[in-house]
Amino acid sequence: MPTKSLYARPPAGMTHAVSAKDLVTSFNWEYDEQRPKLVQLYDAAKKQQWDAAVRLDWSQSLDPENPMVMDDMMIPIFGTDLWRGLSDKDKAKVRRHQQAHTLSQFMHGEQGALMAAAKLVQMAPNVDEKHYAATQAMDEARHVEVYARLLHEKFELVYPITPGLKSLLDMIFAESRWDFAYLGMQVLIEGLALAAFQRIRDASKNQLAAAVNAYVMQDEARHVSFGRIALRDYYPKLSEAERAEREEFVVQSCYHMRDRFDQRDLWGPLGFDEKQCVALVMQSEMMKQFRHRLFSRIVPTVKDIGLWSPKVQKAFAEMGAIQFAEIDIEALLAKDQQVAAEFDAGTTGRFAPRAAAE
Ligand SMILES: [Fe+2]
Ligand SMILES: [Fe+2]
Repeated sequence: MPTKSLYARPPAGMTHAVSAKDLVTSFNWEYDEQRPKLVQLYDAAKKQQWDAAVRLDWSQSLDPENPMVMDDMMIPIFGTDLWRGLSDKDKAKVRRHQQAHTLSQFMHGEQGALMAAAKLVQMAPNVDEKHYAATQAMDEARHVEVYARLLHEKFELVYPITPGLKSLLDMIFAESRWDFAYLGMQVLIEGLALAAFQRIRDASKNQLAAAVNAYVMQDEARHVSFGRIALRDYYPKLSEAERAEREEFVVQSCYHMRDRFDQRDLWGPLGFDEKQCVALVMQSEMMKQFRHRLFSRIVPTVKDIGLWSPKVQKAFAEMGAIQFAEIDIEALLAKDQQVAAEFDAGTTGRFAPRAAAE
């Protein structure tokens, strides 16, 4: 079914182009530069390729009242008079739209990640990085595929990209330096997305929706490791001024994500007053907590790649996210691998046996 017919409201256009000045395609004739950690990661990436059509059971149906079977606490207007006044039918509609809105942003964001990985193949200075990035491009294509399939086949509803995500993508892809694509897309946007994927992986009581996010996260764990290796090697070689420029980019992008990654455009198609809903969401204690938690995967990575000036620390403190600097990111990534394996083995213990559920 064409996506065009599934949009909750029409997007500004069906295509979008961003051009970057002085984009450099970088060849390297040294084919034997093999940093052991990158080679290891490349090997793991080759072995862990998966086919979404086989690994996931797409015959599972989603509940039209609550497709991903998420707690209503996750709904931004939950607990307000507006929510309490809704009929059961309207509540079901809000759940379906809100979940479709979230997954739509994942899908659009993953398209950005696909392009960022391709850009890295083209622009990364060394061949070992190009090899790894090529596997990542395949991973990201698969991520676009799984979210698109969930939306097209199960939700039959798609939301356009939000202005906040779109303007951040524009900023990233208008930049011609290779590391900005990585920093912006993989560390920041996908870092933020990881926290949102995790929320569904760990809280959804629908096996298909939870498994999609568990498998995507397994790939993302490798991407984060790659970013850490590539950028941790690269940033110390930059001048103080060049590093300060990257830090400024991190700070600006994080404020942008905090302030503009809301679900403002969700409410119109649902027939609600947008201004009133945005105000309610802003006041919600649960949403405040959630906005802090969104940075839980970004902060330790930014620290690890050495963009950790007092200015960056001050910004994260102001966003209520500085405590995440203490997270053991290695342990977190290992856990992502383990959870995906539990989904494969059917040992998560959270879902009814498949036969009984159908
Ligand atoms: Fe991805
Ligand atoms: Fe990724």
